[in-house]
Amino acid sequence: MLLKLVVFLVKVKLILASTPIIIPEGEDLTRINATTSEWLSRTCGITDERNGRRYPWAVSILYFGENKLGGTIISPYHILTAAHGFVKFSNYMYIYETFSRTSCVIWRLRTKKDLDLRMVAYGGDCINEESQSQGCAHPHMMFNRIKAVLLDFDFATGHCVNGHDWAIIEVENPIKFDANIRPICLPKPMQEIETKLTVAGWGRIFGRKDNRIRGIPLKYAPKCLIPFPDTRPKNVPDYLCAKPLNYVNLCHGHSGAGLVQSDSQNRSTIVGLTSFGSKGCPADETTVFTKVSIYLHEICYFTGVCYSL
Ligand SMILES: *[C@@H]1O[C@H](CO)[C@@H](O)[C@H](O)[C@H]1NC(C)=O
Ligand SMILES: *[C@@H]1O[C@H](CO)[C@@H](O)[C@H](O)[C@H]1NC(C)=O
Repeated sequence: MLLKLVVFLVKVKLILASTPIIIPEGEDLTRINATTSEWLSRTCGITDERNGRRYPWAVSILYFGENKLGGTIISPYHILTAAHGFVKFSNYMYIYETFSRTSCVIWRLRTKKDLDLRMVAYGGDCINEESQSQGCAHPHMMFNRIKAVLLDFDFATGHCVNGHDWAIIEVENPIKFDANIRPICLPKPMQEIETKLTVAGWGRIFGRKDNRIRGIPLKYAPKCLIPFPDTRPKNVPDYLCAKPLNYVNLCHGHSGAGLVQSDSQNRSTIVGLTSFGSKGCPADETTVFTKVSIYLHEICYFTGVCYSL
């Protein structure tokens, strides 16, 4: 009984001190060493489209073969994604639908068993056999299990309106890089956001399921104007906003996918993580992303990917 109380108090303290939570409990993330981090800084964000894929860092988190969440490879072990994919809400089934009416209430975190039912898919453009057979340029998918997830619990304790929607997935087997599978670059601490941005993922397009990866062009929206009567706060320090460039918007299944910009050398950097959109995913509305540069110290501390600091 006393032990249970102590454990509970420790948990409360951890939550108050905004320590990220790791699922399963007691697991630690693998930290890469300085040599590997330095090597990543030289090789990240480069694509070889003649021999490989256009978005080699994009992953799909599958649940019984269906895309549920996007993510982005940052090291042989680590994938950046959104925290809301690993929290179960009691009043908040679809993050793209109910947000404007009510803020979220947590039911529970995902369990080890929930993680075991998911697969990380990468290396190919098409996530199921049907789309693979319809002339997919890069049909071959690799699959990996989730060893652990670290998530910023302030997202959930803040009722999903105070930001902090970020998480790190560690895969069970280290990812081997080739022309189809590559890590993206982390931003600098004061990274300027470019006007032209892209999210690549397997989310719905105009409400329809899409089993093929698509790059959705977006434009940076520094003012972050969220439509009435949407109640999302606009002044959260880790928010970053973007709007569709040509009426194709993000929707269910794009959550967690990276918001990416390209520099003059065509190297790609992840600047945001897809967090919220408006109900019904209207074609011209703002999407809110978690700004990655705010969490570089946490990412470095837990993964060893430290080159951008
Ligand atoms: C760093 O990690 C890599 C990959 O695990 C390993 O091959 C290398 O020997 C390590 N280097 C040092 C200096 O520990
Ligand atoms: C970057 O990519 C664009 C479009 O694919 C290409 O036209 C341009 O030459 C590339 N620039 C460099 C520096 O490789």
